[in-house]
Amino acid sequence: MNSENIMNKEIGSYFHWIDSTIAKSLFKKHPINFRENTHVFYSGRHALKYLINHIEQGRSISKIWMPEYYCQHVTNWMKKNYSNIHLYSAHPFEYTDELRIPEDVSENDILIINNYWGLSTTRLSKYPAKRPIIIEDHSHGWLSRQCLHSEADYCFVSLRKSLPIPLGGICWAPNKELPSYPLPENQEVYSVWDKMVVAMKNKTEYLYGQSEDLKDLYLNQIAEVEDGLDLSHKVTKMRTEDKKFIHKWLQLDVLEIKKRNLDLLYRKITDTPNYKIIKRFAYTSFGFMLLFSDGMAYESFRKHLIDNQIYPSNLWPNNNGWKYFLNVHVDFRYGIEDMEFIAGCIEDWNRTYN
Ligand SMILES: Cc1ncc(COP(=O)(O)O)c(C=O)c1O
Repeated sequence: MNSENIMNKEIGSYFHWIDSTIAKSLFKKHPINFRENTHVFYSGRHALKYLINHIEQGRSISKIWMPEYYCQHVTNWMKKNYSNIHLYSAHPFEYTDELRIPEDVSENDILIINNYWGLSTTRLSKYPAKRPIIIEDHSHGWLSRQCLHSEADYCFVSLRKSLPIPLGGICWAPNKELPSYPLPENQEVYSVWDKMVVAMKNKTEYLYGQSEDLKDLYLNQIAEVEDGLDLSHKVTKMRTEDKKFIHKWLQLDVLEIKKRNLDLLYRKITDTPNYKIIKRFAYTSFGFMLLFSDGMAYESFRKHLIDNQIYPSNLWPNNNGWKYFLNVHVDFRYGIEDMEFIAGCIEDWNRTYN
């Protein structure tokens, strides 16, 4: 991207607002045509709730099963919306085709499975028809092979993790029509979108401008957006222009650019006794993902990155097995020079940490 004009360079965290000329040239350079019969919403959570509402039109559901290792915000939100949430143990770093259905799950249940970092290959076709209804979450695997060829009954995605849109979620039923239901308007959700537009524009001004104090402002605005989404429990009708905006960004092949960036990092950085790189041959993962076993090494590494204006995301620390896991963003905002910079920072830490 236009990195030579950036005054306050940083890598990671939330997307900034991308000017429409830059957006158009990205769509032209990296096009994709996502063909499913999709429905677009303000959030991944709205998309999931729309699916559950649809399933409940046809039958009564006994339990909704969610993976234990999962985004805690979504699990908490689901618990506020449904009284029949149950957790099952999942394996985020083992990729087999097998679906391990917990023993006490019945065909009257919904089982939510997660496509971990776009590396999952859970196959469902070999399971008997008498199985729970499966909803697969591709929020960390947008456009991954599993997302494009899912065998789940239904799929959904939180799009704002992969695309520079204020808010967004999408759902579909692979190879089937998913009906449209009338939805209510909701000014509160519209104002969350509008607030995020302002926050993203402030971030752009911070990155390309001179004003240091905009950083606190946009970070506070984003925190308010997260609170607003958490409180938003009604699946809301989209405003036409917001829907159009999301549809434009669905044309971008985000994975092609990630693959180029990841290949470069994988050539330079390999596993050490402190961390393991989470990757899978011939798959493109959500980002450059490092799993630590030791909390001290993890904290030191994270601090080192942040000191160098690299802001990794800390994936799902509220779990029992894998607390020290982080993702360095390698999306279309970044180029070869940025990857060289990230690799250099990691090599520095490797040399000095003991
Ligand atoms: C794996 C996963 N699925 C779904 C969501 C929900 O997405 P949204 O915030 O768009 O509702 C999140 C994060 O919030 C997530 O990490």
